[in-house]
Amino acid sequence: MSMGNKNKWWRNAVVYQIYPKSFQDSDGDGIGDIPGIISRLDYLKKLGIDAIWLSPVYRSPQDDNGYDISDYQDIEPMFGTMEDMEQLFAEAKKRGIRIMMDLVLNHTSDEHRWFLEAKKSKDNPYHDYYVWRDGEEGVYPNDMNSVFGGPAWEWVPELGQYYFHQFSVKQPDLNWENPKVRQECCDIVDFWADLGVDGFRCDVLDFISKDFANNKMNDGPRLHEYVKQLFGREKVKHLFTVGECQSDTESICSICGKDRDELKSVFQFEHIGLGRSDKYTPAPYSASQIKDVLVKWQNFTAEHDLLYILFTDNHDQPYFISRLGNDKELRYECATAYAGMFYLLKGIPFIYQGQEFGSANSRYEDIDSFNDVETVNYYRENCDKKPHDALIDEINYGSRDNTRRPIAWTKEKPTRGFTSGTPWLKMPSRAEEINLEADKSAYKSIIGFYKKILALRKSSDVIKYGNFKDLTQGDDCFVFEREKNGEKIIVAVNFEKANSLKLPSCLTGENFELLLCNYDEKDDFAPDFAPYEIRVYHKR
Ligand code: NOJ
Repeated sequence: MSMGNKNKWWRNAVVYQIYPKSFQDSDGDGIGDIPGIISRLDYLKKLGIDAIWLSPVYRSPQDDNGYDISDYQDIEPMFGTMEDMEQLFAEAKKRGIRIMMDLVLNHTSDEHRWFLEAKKSKDNPYHDYYVWRDGEEGVYPNDMNSVFGGPAWEWVPELGQYYFHQFSVKQPDLNWENPKVRQECCDIVDFWADLGVDGFRCDVLDFISKDFANNKMNDGPRLHEYVKQLFGREKVKHLFTVGECQSDTESICSICGKDRDELKSVFQFEHIGLGRSDKYTPAPYSASQIKDVLVKWQNFTAEHDLLYILFTDNHDQPYFISRLGNDKELRYECATAYAGMFYLLKGIPFIYQGQEFGSANSRYEDIDSFNDVETVNYYRENCDKKPHDALIDEINYGSRDNTRRPIAWTKEKPTRGFTSGTPWLKMPSRAEEINLEADKSAYKSIIGFYKKILALRKSSDVIKYGNFKDLTQGDDCFVFEREKNGEKIIVAVNFEKANSLKLPSCLTGENFELLLCNYDEKDDFAPDFAPYEIRVYHKR
């Protein structure tokens, strides 16, 4: 039975991602925690969000900051207790905020009970929960590398076998071919569904079915069968499930298509890949390429009746305005223009913590100021190969720690309202200039603009559900229309250089009014646009 649209709360929701370690500390240990999150719920409500995606808070040795789980049904003590979690559910519910948890089922921690058992012997009942290959020390089963550097195989001398780890050596991949593993994963989903979770962001979900025959780790032959088993069950069909999948047009249709009983949506990363030749190396790009990607996906998702996730930032990427915008002299203009450009499109906005007040990348000169396992491995692998300064530049550019540094809530030095202790990771290097308190009181307030955008979405069925049409003429700008039952909103965004835009001829004071903009306008309909200027018009 398919759900009616009225039960699909996510169709008009705005989701906010919390990276718990860096959000808000409540007990002075320098690490963000669940009571800290609870203390910020009123702030989030006022911002205008409807749901939280909580990065992992499960019990974990924290090799990959919680994406290495050692107990899926318990809370990591540094974040709090199960009671804290239940209180978070209750307090969020009181405020009408839904909770989505992060579901990491491709791998566990090597400290998970299953893996500790699996390592004991080949005939241990848990051995086949993981992916093993017989072999010889030093002769890898194949040449596959881990995402975090080095071979994807780790030798266990006691067994004379390698285990497979797509990520860090402390994150062994689960063997989804084993029906017992699939049942355990369903039980985890049910456990949290029973506790009242409203949805899941599903970590590297397309990796769970592997295609070893072709040395290909994602989109394996049994992916759809597995995802359907996980989420197609009646008990959990009401959950909002968003997959982290490296998906192209075809695979998105097959995993999110109507009546597939698999996922409600996936993140699409094409725009995130722009402007770099690899994670640590910038490459030329133009903002028009971002526009082209957005137009492509707006049209494609409309044509196939799919839900599109609107996002610029998350905990795996440096800040979008730092990498694909201007976080220096045009930080306010760029952050607000991009907010309007993404969040007034058709889809479901996801906002990453700190993005709402224009947080930007940091600059640190030594590797000790970084924590991310991926960054540290990259540094180690390259420190004898590249000049030190160049390597440090690369890391500052591409490290995931850029978006993982603690939130600078206030002007107060040195820890900016994040903690009364010593932060687990250095505060953002620009925290003196970029903090929530300073932004709130600025004439050009980024959070002020975010609130207006989110309030506009909330009040407007045209923005939530209306059709999308690209009206762009000329370069270095994006002009689009949203329309529902004859009601129209037109959004005009200029990119980095001052520009004269070819606005649609209908856009005159007789027909339209200016609803929102990020500059003080002299003439609401003039074609001249300043750098990163955005204007939002509504048809009278
Ligand atoms: C994707 C997550 O977003 C990332 O942070 C993590 O390191 C890997 N998956 C492994 O779980």
